[in-house]
Amino acid sequence: MCCYNSPDNDKSLSTASHSLTRLWYYSCLRPHIMEKRGRMTSPAILDRITKLRDELRQHNYRYHVLDDPTISDAEYDALMRQLRELEAAHPELVTPDSPTQRVGAPPAERFAKVQHPQPMLSLSNAFDRQDLLAWRDRVLRLLGSDTKIAYVVEPKIDGLAMAITYDQGRLVQAATRGDGYTGEDVTANVRTVKSVPLVLHHPSGSVPRRIEVRGEIYMRIADFERLNEQQAATGDKVFANPRNGAAGSLRQLDSTITAGRPLRFFAYGIGPVEGATLNSQHQALEYLRDLGFPVNPDIRRYEDFEEVIAYCEEWMSRRDRLVYEADGVVIKVDGFGQQRELGVVAREPRWATAFKFPAREGTTTLLEIVVNVGRTGKLNPNAILEPFTIGGVTVANATLHNEDYIVSRDIRIGDRVTVKRAGDVIPQVVGPIVGARTGSERPWHMPETCPSCGTPVVRHPGEADYYCPNRLCPEQIVRSMEHWVSQGAMDIVGMGERQARQFVEGGMIKDVADLYLLNEESFAGIEGYGPKRIKNLLDGIKASKDRPLHRLISALGIPNVGSTLALTLARHFRSLSRLADASEEDLRAIDGIGPHVAQSIARYFAEPDHRDLIDKLKRVGVQTEDTQPAPEPVTDGPLSGKTLVITGTLGNMTREQAAERIQQAGGKIGSGVTKKTDYLVVGEEPGGSKYNKAQQLNIPILNEAQLVELLGATATEAVPVVADEPEAADDQLKLDI
Ligand code: IVH
Repeated sequence: MCCYNSPDNDKSLSTASHSLTRLWYYSCLRPHIMEKRGRMTSPAILDRITKLRDELRQHNYRYHVLDDPTISDAEYDALMRQLRELEAAHPELVTPDSPTQRVGAPPAERFAKVQHPQPMLSLSNAFDRQDLLAWRDRVLRLLGSDTKIAYVVEPKIDGLAMAITYDQGRLVQAATRGDGYTGEDVTANVRTVKSVPLVLHHPSGSVPRRIEVRGEIYMRIADFERLNEQQAATGDKVFANPRNGAAGSLRQLDSTITAGRPLRFFAYGIGPVEGATLNSQHQALEYLRDLGFPVNPDIRRYEDFEEVIAYCEEWMSRRDRLVYEADGVVIKVDGFGQQRELGVVAREPRWATAFKFPAREGTTTLLEIVVNVGRTGKLNPNAILEPFTIGGVTVANATLHNEDYIVSRDIRIGDRVTVKRAGDVIPQVVGPIVGARTGSERPWHMPETCPSCGTPVVRHPGEADYYCPNRLCPEQIVRSMEHWVSQGAMDIVGMGERQARQFVEGGMIKDVADLYLLNEESFAGIEGYGPKRIKNLLDGIKASKDRPLHRLISALGIPNVGSTLALTLARHFRSLSRLADASEEDLRAIDGIGPHVAQSIARYFAEPDHRDLIDKLKRVGVQTEDTQPAPEPVTDGPLSGKTLVITGTLGNMTREQAAERIQQAGGKIGSGVTKKTDYLVVGEEPGGSKYNKAQQLNIPILNEAQLVELLGATATEAVPVVADEPEAADDQLKLDI
């Protein structure tokens, strides 16, 4: 049974166990290695193996005991691979204590210890199709190539493994995995997790005499982000990722704290069972579901291994759209008889493997923090990193969001930091690795003056961002110009950031309206502009005067107004002046515009500088009225009365075109997901917050094909594919990654 220690005893044991380990190493292991080295291995190899083992033990201890790793999982996996390869080439050097021979470090000493009656095993890894096939071939070789084998595939959620024991249907114990043999007793904490049943029921009326249920305690991404916001607001520790959030919440000695944390559970397996006969993984999962456990609904059983591979690949691409963090897919041979036959080698079952997704977190050094000025004057702290690779992509910059983000996470220049890169989203610094500090790291604060123009910076009450208030700040002009000329906005061919910078720095323009005052003479002395280039550019500028109103609204770069909302505003007001004169209440009355966005628009047009700009645009001949007749509202379309929100990039139409077609079908476009939203349309690289909110509110989610199907009767001719800018791309950083 279990062995209990009081937390007080455990503390003294902790220090003792360290010196004991060291003593044991020098008295037992080292002579053993030395003797073997004498026989057949070069000192350099032995040295490398010893160093790798020491390093891995350190990292094991930090990860499993302290919950404070100093390297990423991918780096750990790489070290482990090296050691495995060396040991495979020199089997005479394999020792029972090698990290390859165990699954973790001893448990932290502050909870009572629990001996697992059946070890909680670790999983071998597969990284590609070839690895998966190699695993399948070994299974076939061991079971016989004619054997019929079924596989169960399960998303591998990144949380904390848990073994929960029920006696006569009542929860009696919950233990962490620890080192696989001994875990920590966290019963009081697990009892607070609402998705873990305290009492079991089965439709048959009888529950097993005793059962150990295994599964993962985890946090959903949206819950994790909310928790971090709360933690930051109260000055408490923020967590680096949902896994750490789950681990940190579970390892609380005060279970009332755990009770307030958004922890969830998914059951994925069983340990020892008395009073029930289960023959396969698939059957066990159904049984667990019947007993009242949450079992991941995306688990599948396949008999064709190609389907297993397809599932792995599909999940790799779905990963960014999940509500939880998954770091891979677990593949298990279904039959328990076959599992027993395949057995366990080096604490890894041969009947299961983990298909690991490419890493998206890594660690590197934060070399410097620079501040970029956005087009609205927002100051964006940007991390300059020691270049490193995450999942095969080199990353040298990452966003740090704002000063509060940096201060609440205590991120310092010179720190070793965890960096996350999900999909094509801009990489972000997640937090420092405090344990790796040397003392030379420097805290950072927002500069008091704008790095571009030297004007003192301001921060509005209740906002996290700092702004440069100088409308003539050269960097702001360059950034607004860059946005003004972009494809989704006024679309001026031949103009980009480089030209904008050249013209602003050359004193040719002070705002976007000045573009329309340029003539041949303006280019005198500007390098690289011959008569032909000048003519083309001036023609392009002239042509942009007649862009539709929604493009002009988009081009202004009003905070929180992306291309879809610009279209709604253009259709509603049909004139820039009428939009500029609208009150916050007028704006709020428009379907799909919430109070935050309404305030943001009204605030923009209340600025005298912006009103002057509108007057100037009219003077220089930019069309500020909607010249096309107002379309009749469609009352009998397939989407009449429905509000849709679009997120991400669609494949066959721009978001603007999608919005137009939805409106033609009678639907309305909302800017954010609310209870009133009927559908969320999700393209590639969707915004996480809209997606998560829709999930929370149980709002149906459509992909592009489903949208087109809904549009049905109104489908117009095929539209060309044009890259759309992300909505509310206000002050997005442009980073080389
Ligand atoms: S099976 C031998 N199934 O992945 C079987 N593990 O190294 C061992 N995990 O931390 C576990 N989802 O908690 C299994 N569906 C799943 C899983 C899963 C996540 C975690 C597990 C452990 C690690 C296994």
